Amino acid sequence: MRGLNGKVAVVAGAAPGNIGGATAVRLAEEGMLVVAADLREATAQAVADEITASGGTAVGRGFDISDEQSYQALIEFTVERFGGLHGLFNVAADLSPQTIGRDTDVISEPVEVWQRTIDVTLTGYMYGIRHALPIMIKQGSGSIVNTMSSSVWMGEPEHVAYQAAKSGLVGLTRHTATLGGKHGVRTNLLSPGVILTETAIRSTTEEFREQIMASVRAPRLGRPEDIAAMVAFLFSDDGAYVNGQSLLVDGGANFT
Ligand SMILES: NC(=O)c1ccc[n+]([C@@H]2O[C@H](COP(=O)([O-])OP(=O)(O)OC[C@H]3O[C@@H](n4cnc5c(N)ncnc54)[C@H](O)[C@@H]3O)[C@@H](O)[C@H]2O)c1
Repeated sequence: MRGLNGKVAVVAGAAPGNIGGATAVRLAEEGMLVVAADLREATAQAVADEITASGGTAVGRGFDISDEQSYQALIEFTVERFGGLHGLFNVAADLSPQTIGRDTDVISEPVEVWQRTIDVTLTGYMYGIRHALPIMIKQGSGSIVNTMSSSVWMGEPEHVAYQAAKSGLVGLTRHTATLGGKHGVRTNLLSPGVILTETAIRSTTEEFREQIMASVRAPRLGRPEDIAAMVAFLFSDDGAYVNGQSLLVDGGANFT
């Protein structure tokens, strides 16, 4: 894709086999200098090692998206290391059993689960934008991609905090698109459908996958690389006139 070679990207939520990891790999293949970041430093480092081993440029770094100072330090590290910041992919989510596993319905939701989900998936994304946007505006270019989920449009009967936090990204994205747009900084929202990450392959049943397969207008289920391709497009000059949009990458699923 055009305009990515030599530019700098942060992938905030990258582990091998997940959406962030596949995106970091794709961006590096396009010639971007990549900072792969995650709560688990070792997994971020593993992504960076994979990229470096295949001739790309990447560093791995631990950070906590729910801690503003930690996210600020990640952005500052990136600019110091690579001399700028052109693409920010906010993709982290707390999908642990303690959080998403206890994220029920609005009547019985534990408040700490609600709070943790908002802290990671909404406030955390805001921290990244708050510290990246001034750098991109000064530079006169940049692209931010926030990750929502097709499940928001389904109105699932559980995962109330996840849906509320992800929905908040609509406003955050459109606000940021307005703030940055005239300065050449675009912000978009990407909603994956069901994507077979390594974790999803391990944790879903054949029956569930067949159910999803029946609902997509595609000959296969989604892969992390499908999302990576859309992020690469949105970061590139080919996506130069796409700003403030909400894009579903779900194989044309018919449950949304
Ligand atoms: N996989 C799917 O089917 C699917 C569908 C719809 C939306 N999504 C969204 O796509 C994104 C990626 O999903 P995934 O399937 O790759 O999930 P994942 O759990 O593999 O990736 C999320 C990453 O965020 C990291 N993380 C969690 N808390 C963090 C924190 N406090 N600070 C920094 N990093 C933290 C995790 O360690 C993990 O590596 C998420 O935002 C998810 O909500 C995924």
